Amino acid sequence: MIVDIITKKKEGKILSRQELEYFFNGYLNGEIEDYQMSSLLMAICLKGMADKEIFELTDIYIKSGEILDFSKVEGVKVDKHSTGGVGDKTTLIIAPIVASLGIPVVKMSGRGLGFTGGTIDKIESIEGFQTNRSMGAIKEQVKEIGISLSSQTSKLAPMDKKIYALRDVTGTVESIPLIAASIMSKKIASGADKILIDIKVGKGALIKNQKDAKKLKDLMTRIGNHYGREVRCIISDMNMPLGSCIGNALEVLEAIDILKGKEKGDLLNLCMDLASEMVSMSKNIGKKKAVKLVKEAIVSKKAYYKFLELVKYQNGDISSLKVSDKKIEVKSSKSGVVKSINALKFGELSVRLGAGRQHEDDKVNHEVGIKLNKLVGDKVKVGDTLCTLFVKKEDDFSKIEAYYTLA
Ligand code: URA
Repeated sequence: MIVDIITKKKEGKILSRQELEYFFNGYLNGEIEDYQMSSLLMAICLKGMADKEIFELTDIYIKSGEILDFSKVEGVKVDKHSTGGVGDKTTLIIAPIVASLGIPVVKMSGRGLGFTGGTIDKIESIEGFQTNRSMGAIKEQVKEIGISLSSQTSKLAPMDKKIYALRDVTGTVESIPLIAASIMSKKIASGADKILIDIKVGKGALIKNQKDAKKLKDLMTRIGNHYGREVRCIISDMNMPLGSCIGNALEVLEAIDILKGKEKGDLLNLCMDLASEMVSMSKNIGKKKAVKLVKEAIVSKKAYYKFLELVKYQNGDISSLKVSDKKIEVKSSKSGVVKSINALKFGELSVRLGAGRQHEDDKVNHEVGIKLNKLVGDKVKVGDTLCTLFVKKEDDFSKIEAYYTLA
């Protein structure tokens, strides 16, 4: 039976609900081995899946764990998910913006994976900030202050967790059906009324081109609609890192600067776009009106104060945020204008510095990271600092200049 199912997919045939259940539930129970699941995942990667199979698989993922119920929390709950990028700290910015506008935010986030960072690792740069919260505590908090940020419970779509870890080490991460089932199962199981997905495209993302991004968008929208949820997707660039900081505490500090209205550029633009989509969905108003509300939330500092309220409520000490005082400046040996900055290389570098994990149980270092002193379009002279590395130990950093392309 096991081999028959793998062979059927290898030949590009459609698997039935019964076959998918047998295989995937069997894997979760330990009756099917890693090597057998790896083989099926690779066949799925190469041959794809029909819509019917993707819907069934998403459903099997959802039913592998708890389905959360926030129906008692008043208001339309809109959840947001990013497919993962480098320097992506948007959740830290848009969650307080949206909450400051009276929209309940029940945000559950993940840790970093591969070269992409995770919101939970970032927020834990604030000493004392508790991310492991019970459902009762989350509901109480949202009732009191309108926002909560916690780590995803292990009971939510546990099948996705187990399969994601296997995909990560078997070259099967970049499969559109598998990405869609993975993301949508978590979003639907976490009880959101409406869902906004930020699909990252480019060198520093899982999805490398617009065509695949559109396919994923269509698919996730249809899955959401199947469960009666409105889904909107934004397709955003991930050829360059987002904003100017990569690394946990550095990214929190950058997020705070945006909330204080101090920063401009690609990060602010994307946050405005995402936050206003969420506001538009939740309040059922047009995008223009929503943009106006989002701008006001930043200018009035309402969003910033909401962030501080969140930190305090979850026991964080905002004054504890710090970056390593050991700095290395990467200088330019050429002059010109910055044409591109390689997101993937900088993502990998941040993991090498200790900001991310090389192995699942590694501890991240919150104080290390990279500040990009020059961004795309900036003029560079010989000897100018391209970027600053915040490090804990010496290493060979001689190749980093090449992550910048000058024209
Ligand atoms: N994010 C997820 O949660 N799952 C994927 O498969 C890819 C990105």
